[in-house]
Amino acid sequence: MSGPSLRKLDAHQSIHEGAFMEAKSLTELLEKLIKDDKEKEATEVADALIEHWEKRIIGHADSEEEGFYPEVVKKEPELKDIIMMLTRDHNLLRMLAKEAKDRLAESGPTSKILGNFQALLLVNEIHSREEEQLLLGHDHHH
Ligand SMILES: [Fe+2]
Ligand SMILES: [Fe+2]
Repeated sequence: MSGPSLRKLDAHQSIHEGAFMEAKSLTELLEKLIKDDKEKEATEVADALIEHWEKRIIGHADSEEEGFYPEVVKKEPELKDIIMMLTRDHNLLRMLAKEAKDRLAESGPTSKILGNFQALLLVNEIHSREEEQLLLGHDHHH
């Protein structure tokens, strides 16, 4: 999604919040299933979680890079370095999700893959907060 809703703090924040909460609860469920040795269910949840990261969160990042970010730089060229930094965060999310997918295909749901999902949550949480503050905050300078 691009256009006006990504430029509005409230709407953008609620996209972040909704996607984050769902990722968090699926990760907690996966953690429990791995701990209980429920391999079949754990594989299903891990699959759903990878799809969630790819479609909802990385999909959101893709659309920011296609529309929202270039618009910001065009309007405020001094934000170029911040945009580069935020794009690097997106790339970390892409790398961690790809690694999780490869690990799941290779060795099934393990505690190692859980590490990827926890790292994804942490990186995404910091990223969303900075994006909201630096690009959408009311107090950023013009
Ligand atoms: Fe982003
Ligand atoms: Fe965003």
